[in-house]
Amino acid sequence: MRLGILTSGGDCAGLNAALRAVVHRAVDGYGWTVVGIEQGTRGLMDRPPSAREMDLDIFDGTLMRQGGTILGTTNKGDPFAFPMADGTLRDRSDEVIEGFRMLDLDALIGIGGDGSQTILRKLAQKGGFGLVTIPKTIDNDVAETEVAIGYDTAVQVATEALDRLQPTAASHSRVMVLEVMGRDAGHIALVSGIAGGADVILIPEIPWSIGCIARRIEKVRALGRNFALVVVAEAIRTEAGEPILQSAPGEATRYGGVGHYIGGRIAEATGAEVRVTVLGHIQRGGSPDARDRLMASAFGVHAVDLVAEGKFDRMVGWRAREVIDAAIADVIAAPRLVDLAGPVVRTARGLGICLGDD
Ligand code: F6P
Repeated sequence: MRLGILTSGGDCAGLNAALRAVVHRAVDGYGWTVVGIEQGTRGLMDRPPSAREMDLDIFDGTLMRQGGTILGTTNKGDPFAFPMADGTLRDRSDEVIEGFRMLDLDALIGIGGDGSQTILRKLAQKGGFGLVTIPKTIDNDVAETEVAIGYDTAVQVATEALDRLQPTAASHSRVMVLEVMGRDAGHIALVSGIAGGADVILIPEIPWSIGCIARRIEKVRALGRNFALVVVAEAIRTEAGEPILQSAPGEATRYGGVGHYIGGRIAEATGAEVRVTVLGHIQRGGSPDARDRLMASAFGVHAVDLVAEGKFDRMVGWRAREVIDAAIADVIAAPRLVDLAGPVVRTARGLGICLGDD
């Protein structure tokens, strides 16, 4: 068996831990050859394909602890609509499938979010090869699994940011706004906001009003507290329903800056002195925490076992303390948004945190 593996889409902490687990299980457990494909499916367009064998000697004891991905990745390389230098989009899927064949691979494990899994599944169906996927994204919006690799570390980073913002907010009697990532779902904002003692948390799933936010800040003042913490997910809209984007027209949607908009609205509505922090890619880099290392290891082992059983078109996942697998078709049907009736939202409301709508 020659098993291909690649990382695809935006990076996050824990990808190297997943690669390590796959190589261990495949090489040591089954005696297979593992071929690491570079830069996601982009590496399969090169001639010869950009890829290297991954043997147990790649493990010097540091890999599991390292952020990023040693294979490289891209979130701009959809082979069915590949952006060419002249500005056009070209279907290069046949080249990618040919690259897969040139490497003489029998099956592929792809580590990616829902967008990458959609593309990989189309390639596997067109090329007629077996595919197993491993979920990763700091946004944690992949369906059929409670956890994707990278999410827990991102929550830790955002919580630590609030731990650092709180004392300076209190020293200067300020409202601190922290903008975190989350392009469809508000999981990072909601969980780090609860863990970091936020007074207001705004997520894309819940429409907000400035009146609600101002009332919460007034209440904090009335209780005798001189500062407030506000967490906003990057994808929330303005009151006019507009997203705040950094991407140029025609480019893929890239958010950034809505924290400054919210900060301005809070200053106008309450007279508070406001400062804004945009956390950005700091949430994606750095060493994975213990939970992400565990998830990456469990997912890597189970993914290889699925290949060994010939169970393809499946994504591995985590549900109710079990490693599970689910049909990729179900995974890519819709993103997993915050459950508005679920325990995390109930906890936030129970703590009196303003979610923008009450
Ligand atoms: O999907 C993961 C994510 O980190 C989002 O939270 C964020 O909107 C996006 O990727 C940023 O992507 P890029 O690396 O292109 O800036």
